[in-house]
Amino acid sequence: MPLERIDKIIASQGELSRSDAKKLLSDGAVAVNGKQVRDCSFKADIDADIVCIHGKPLRSGKYIYIMLNKPTGVVSASRSSGKGEKTVVELVPRSMKRSGLFPAGRLDSDSTGFVLITDDGEFAHRILSPSNHVEKTYEVTLSHQADIERYTEAFSKGLVLSDGTRLLSADVRMLSDGERPVLEVVLREGRYHQIKRMFAALGNHVEALRRTKIGGLELDAALPEGECRELTAEEVSEITQKPNW
Ligand code: URA
Repeated sequence: MPLERIDKIIASQGELSRSDAKKLLSDGAVAVNGKQVRDCSFKADIDADIVCIHGKPLRSGKYIYIMLNKPTGVVSASRSSGKGEKTVVELVPRSMKRSGLFPAGRLDSDSTGFVLITDDGEFAHRILSPSNHVEKTYEVTLSHQADIERYTEAFSKGLVLSDGTRLLSADVRMLSDGERPVLEVVLREGRYHQIKRMFAALGNHVEALRRTKIGGLELDAALPEGECRELTAEEVSEITQKPNW
């Protein structure tokens, strides 16, 4: 989207008159990317900048960004392969449906958690490209006891998988120890069955896998499995931030 005057953006996106928009600006109610803007001639890009009125972000309306809490048995695809499995896009309710929706990154059919579904190809490319360092965080349940020191060292160096693939460094920490330990793992790339293959390379086995964060945005704990909700502009921008570790 080209740059446009802020009073025009507010008037068109917020369904207000141009003079209402000017008043909001002079009252100090408008912020662009977190900074107060009072000047009506200030220019912004509604698709790239976060414009807030009284702290509430305006939506560009151009693209949609949906958080799905994926259940098991659902494939990360836009179209069914015809094998009878439901796709993540089929879980999007009618009110959020649009043409061109696809999952920005895949989870295995037996994995659960945060899948981002969008129609914004450029944004998806940005968050999936390893060079942009958008980290994905997973909660991993293992079937055998975990040697966290060994795993930390191996992951930080960059594991080499059985087919010779050298991985980028990853972080790991123990969430709960025991016979079936639960670990948190942060990846900086997304290869086929990556976490399962990483733990297999270290002699362990993944029993359950749940994605809990994309970048700095956490899966909404109040979102039941199988359900979707639309993200706010602020939440979309959290995706490109670093997760708290
Ligand atoms: N790693 C895996 O092995 N599976 C997933 O679904 C995600 C990461």
